[in-house]
Amino acid sequence: MAKRFEGKSILVTGAASGIGRATALAFGAEGGRVTVVDRSDKDGEATAKAIRDAGGAAIFFKADVSKAADCRAMVAAAVAAHGGLQCAFNNAGIERHGYLTADIEESSWNEVIAVNLNGVFLSMKYEIPEMLKHGGGAIVNTASVGGIVGNPGLGAYCAAKHGVIGITKVAALEYVAQGVRINALCPGGTATPMLKNWFQEPGVEEHVKALHPIGRWADPSEQAKAVLFLCSDDASYMAGHSLIVDGAMTAQ
Ligand SMILES: NC(=O)c1ccc[n+]([C@@H]2O[C@H](COP(=O)([O-])OP(=O)(O)OC[C@H]3O[C@@H](n4cnc5c(N)ncnc54)[C@H](O)[C@@H]3O)[C@@H](O)[C@H]2O)c1
Repeated sequence: MAKRFEGKSILVTGAASGIGRATALAFGAEGGRVTVVDRSDKDGEATAKAIRDAGGAAIFFKADVSKAADCRAMVAAAVAAHGGLQCAFNNAGIERHGYLTADIEESSWNEVIAVNLNGVFLSMKYEIPEMLKHGGGAIVNTASVGGIVGNPGLGAYCAAKHGVIGITKVAALEYVAQGVRINALCPGGTATPMLKNWFQEPGVEEHVKALHPIGRWADPSEQAKAVLFLCSDDASYMAGHSLIVDGAMTAQ
């Protein structure tokens, strides 16, 4: 079967772990030349090495997506290594839960917004001009089911993820005619270190599973397949869309 991303320069943030790692590996397996971005260098280097060990092309670039200078530098690194930028998956994120709105510390609120919302904005700010230079590209931003519905105890997270869907729609409207398709992914519960950390608390694993009518959480590879679809030519008429991959959680 033809590889859908042969020779294309692909940037993935939060690619040291979970959904980002699975997606970076999937892009690499389909011929993409991947820039693995994360603030964790040990695990980020491991993702890039895993892509290369499987016969693909990848570099690791350490960046904190909440910092503009880092986002500018990660895009420059992708362009320098791979000669341009055709696809980006802006996926790095953190989760803070357990506090009702009136109890959220301002510092915690700011931290979640800085990574989950500002990080997506800053990534696109530097990715879009590079894509425009060479006739366009595709961007997928990671939102969440928490960008579609509210979850008590997840105020900052849900606010950031609703914001990701908002900026995805606006940017899609602004750039689709110039060939940059921008969409969002809304994962439901997915078996990554982020979710598994939460499962350490009593009753959480059963609660999360019960929220998903499919009766299980997703494997990260199931989210990766949706991202590759959105970045592929099969999704050539899709822009400004939020693709929900949640085992029917938000259908209720
Ligand atoms: N796992 C789920 O159930 C789930 C559900 C909905 C949405 N999401 C979203 O999917 C995305 C990926 O989450 P995951 O479950 O794979 O989590 P994860 O914790 O396994 O991976 C997140 C990665 O992002 C990196 N990261 C965090 N802050 C960063 C920063 N400032 N700069 C650069 N890298 C940073 C981490 O080092 C880590 O490697 C997140 O945006 C998350 O909100 C996850």
